[in-house]
Amino acid sequence: MNNRFSPYFFSILLLLGATRLSTAQQAGFNYDESKVPSYSLPDLFVSTKGQEINTITDWNFVRRPEIISLFEDHVYGKLPRDLDGITFTLVNGDEQAMDGLAILKEVNVTVQRNGKSITMPLTVFVPKHHQGDAAPVFLLITHRGPENIDPTRKEKSDFWPAEMLISRGYAVAAIHVQDVSDDNKETFKEDILTKLYPEQLTMSNGMRGLGAWAWGAMRAMDYFESDPDIDATRAGVVGHSRGGKAALWTGAQDTRWAITISNESGCGGAALSRRRFGETVARINTNFPYWFTDNFNRYNDNEDALPVDQHMLIAAIAPRAVYVASAEEDQWADPKGEYLSLKLGSRAHQTIYQMDTKLPQEQPKVGEPIHMGSLGYHMRGGTHNLTALDWSYFLDFADKLFQK
Ligand code: GCU
Repeated sequence: MNNRFSPYFFSILLLLGATRLSTAQQAGFNYDESKVPSYSLPDLFVSTKGQEINTITDWNFVRRPEIISLFEDHVYGKLPRDLDGITFTLVNGDEQAMDGLAILKEVNVTVQRNGKSITMPLTVFVPKHHQGDAAPVFLLITHRGPENIDPTRKEKSDFWPAEMLISRGYAVAAIHVQDVSDDNKETFKEDILTKLYPEQLTMSNGMRGLGAWAWGAMRAMDYFESDPDIDATRAGVVGHSRGGKAALWTGAQDTRWAITISNESGCGGAALSRRRFGETVARINTNFPYWFTDNFNRYNDNEDALPVDQHMLIAAIAPRAVYVASAEEDQWADPKGEYLSLKLGSRAHQTIYQMDTKLPQEQPKVGEPIHMGSLGYHMRGGTHNLTALDWSYFLDFADKLFQK
């Protein structure tokens, strides 16, 4: 029998199609551009007291801090800055990693507060030929299976193509979210929330999962600043999807990052909430109540009342570099909303910092990345994922920015 045309074959095809659809876009949400409601966004350059913001000083001392505190109070929660101590312990090293091309450092980052401590493992590979000449670094915040960031390199994954980064002269690092706050409704409070910052759990604007992950990325940066093999002034923070939301929140607050990269971060990340295209605020708060601060629930089916929208998170990163990446079939994450947010948010780069970074009106097409000084965008063909192609675009962008 010719199997290719058996009914079994067709039902497999149907099943594959349905699975693909369910990861690309979920039913019952809007994917029709003509049904995007009209909305007006908060003005980037007018403070809550009505002051017009035109200068770098007003931006730095009035509007940017105000934007950060609006995101803290209404979206992600306060990010605690205080700690009693931080230590870095090399628990495993290999001077001959990746066939002698890299040095592996498995570091335990231990943070103490009020007599308690947590330890976050951090995996770092440094390119060997960069010894004596500190290397720029990319940190991935990941929520996927730990095998994706395997330090032994027995398992290799395009999600974190460490060999590619090393071959291009970059150090490459990763933290797993479960080491700071589990990506789980029931157990997210373990680790830093219960142990180090329990008071956050009682606050309606307290830190939750995404804030905790951003906190973890900042502790990785603390380590980079202490490692002479790494040039912490040329560091990028990268996250995919929920990790991309955390990466943006990291880069918006912590000015030590030279590049912030959001890969398909969607709702609560780069996409404009008011567009209600694909995932909505109500949906994300219902399914992932432990990601955002409790106050974010006020905006379920009530996006227009938000005192911020996500373009303001991009703006808070200015003048530092920001890169937004989308995937064509990832309609759940609203690629158009992600691009608009970058375009509108980067008015801070343009207007306040006078950078020549006017992104095109039209969203760039698949395979036509835009790398314009401090701004990067690409649309990759295919579905929701972080791939070697995405990374190669990030590195092209960084090469240009750092003039490598
Ligand atoms: C879900 C969630 C998204 C998130 C994504 C991911 O689809 O609704 O908001 O970005 O998971 O992290 O892969």
